[in-house]
Parts: sequence; C-alpha cells; structure tokens
Amino acid sequence: MIFLASDFSRQVSFYNMAIKKIGILTSGGDSPGMNAAIRSVVRTANFYGLKVDGIVRGYEGLIDEDFIALGHRSVSGIINRGGTILKTARSDRFRTEEGLKTAAENLRKHKVDALVVIGGDGSYRGANEFFEKQGIPSVGLPGTIDNDLYGTDQTIGCQTAINTALESIDKVRDTAHSMERIYVIEVMGNRSGYIALQVAIGAGAEEVIVPEQKFNYDRMCKNIVAGNKKGKVSWMIVIAEGAGKAATVAETITTMTGLETRYVVLGHVQRGGTPVGLDRVLATRLGAEAVNLILAGQINKAVGVMQNEINVIDLKDARRSEFTHVADCYKLINMLT
Ligand code: F6P
Repeated sequence: MIFLASDFSRQVSFYNMAIKKIGILTSGGDSPGMNAAIRSVVRTANFYGLKVDGIVRGYEGLIDEDFIALGHRSVSGIINRGGTILKTARSDRFRTEEGLKTAAENLRKHKVDALVVIGGDGSYRGANEFFEKQGIPSVGLPGTIDNDLYGTDQTIGCQTAINTALESIDKVRDTAHSMERIYVIEVMGNRSGYIALQVAIGAGAEEVIVPEQKFNYDRMCKNIVAGNKKGKVSWMIVIAEGAGKAATVAETITTMTGLETRYVVLGHVQRGGTPVGLDRVLATRLGAEAVNLILAGQINKAVGVMQNEINVIDLKDARRSEFTHVADCYKLINMLT
C-alpha cells in the first residue's frame, strides 16, 4: 500500500469550532494495528489543537467513567505494538437503555464532543445506536482481523493475522511432509472465511473449508485416497473456525481414508503480535481521516479504504459484509492442487 497524495487533499476544508475534545476507544476483539490507529488519532487531533480522552475497555469504560487524557507523548512507541493500550471489551451493558444513558452522561461530564470508535460490526452498531438514542456522534474505524466490514477492502489487523497464521502453517507443513501426515489447521473467522481463504492460498494448502460455502467431504477424501495411491504423502487443509472443528474434520478424514490425520488450532495467536507494514499504514491513514471528518462536521461515518482510496460511508450502513470472491479462491486452490 502506498500513501496517496490524495489523502492530503482531503484535509479539513473548514473547522468545526464546536469540537474541542474527542474521545477514542477500542471495542470488541483486538486487532494488530489498533495502537497505530490510536496514535494517529491522538496526534492528528493534537495537530489541530483538539484534546483527546482515551476510554479504557471500550464501551464498558464509557459506562464506568474510565477516562484517561491522551497527549502526544502518551502514544509514543506504540505504532509497532500489537493489542491496544486502551484495552478492549465486548459490552452487554452498552446494549441497554441504562448503559447508553450513563455512557452519554459521562461523555458530557468530561466535555467530549465526538467519539472515534475502533472495532468491528458490533462496535459500529453500538456507535450508531448511541447517536440515535443519545445524540453522541462517532466516527468508526474498522478494527478486526476478520476483514468482514462493508465499505472497506481491508480492516486493520487482517493482514497481520494472515501473516501470523502463514508463519505457523509453514512450520506445520515441514513436519507434515516429514511424517507423511494430513494436517487440518483451524484459523479464526467465526462467520467469515476471509482469513482461511487467504491463508490457504498463501500456504499452498490443498483444501479450504469456510462458513460461506457447503463443503463436500466425500469428494475431498476420495481425492486424498487417489492422490495417496499415486505417491502423495501429505496434505494441508485449512478450516475457518465457523465452518467446523478441526478435531472433528481430522477424525472424519482418518475414518474415510485410513490415513493418519492430525490437527492444529491456531486460535488467538492470530490476534496478537507486531502489526505488519500494511496494517500500520492503513491504521495511520484512517486514524487521521477520522479526525478530519469530525472537524469537517462529517459525523456518524465509518471510514475505510477502497481500491487504496479513502472511502467514507454512513455508520448506519456499516454492517457486516460477506467476502464476494469465495468461488474464485476455491477455483484457484483447486487448480493449483
Ligand atoms: O475479533 C474477531 C475474532 O477474532 C473472530 O475471528 C473470532 O471468532 C472471535 O473474535 C473470537 O472472540 P473472543 O476473543 O471473544 O473469543
């Protein structure tokens, strides 16, 4: 990803003088690059003379009044750190009328004029409801490893998660080949097969199983038996967590083929670690744009990137979206196997 000159041309065209302080929070599952986004928001806001309050543990911190002042120095040395310095949580209380009301009262008490919310579709829904019911304006940034948000080609953290999974799968492949085994590798993605598909392509896996598409186990097992008869000794099969359990799939394969099959669940390791360059740059661009939007009076928006250009949509439209190239990925994988 390159940093486009056009981003600079989107600088604030007029200042919204009513905005003096913004709040920032991270919500839902953390993703690598959230810290880079926090840094960008804080420093852009400071550049324009705005104050920033960080809210700890997402919407929970709004309700519990867990606010900390953030300045230029508070975000030093975090651009390369995984996780989120603000911590994050999933909040059931924020779904209640009482929770929304308390959160709004706390923001008014701290004179916070607008919020930047970094998270996934649930966090976006929360921000939209917060505006509709309590009149608190927000701008959303896509922070999730799942890459399943409408209005953006990439979410912050997704590329890092893919690289992390690939690193592990490459290692498993070494032992799979040496021990002549079949391996089923479970990656994250409860409702989205995006990580699984990218990882399967990048790792040269033979098969991928995702929630978006019905999978034919019979076909796979017949192919494995046929391949084995011709001398093929190892297979890598990637499964998204939402499509089934790796343990069950491994057992099915052993039963249907008679070949030794093991499984690995990568789990939360994919959520951590140093963000890759793409995620740092994306987070930094989007963080600055969020402040620009607030200052330009463009509130209740979600900011993303489409074809490497900044893309802004209404927060109310920023729902979950399904990856539209599942069939193409399958075709590619099957062709190369
Ligand atoms: O943040 C997205 C995600 O990592 C999904 O891929 C996964 O299904 C889910 O969060 C796991 O959530 P938790 O950390 O609450 O178990």
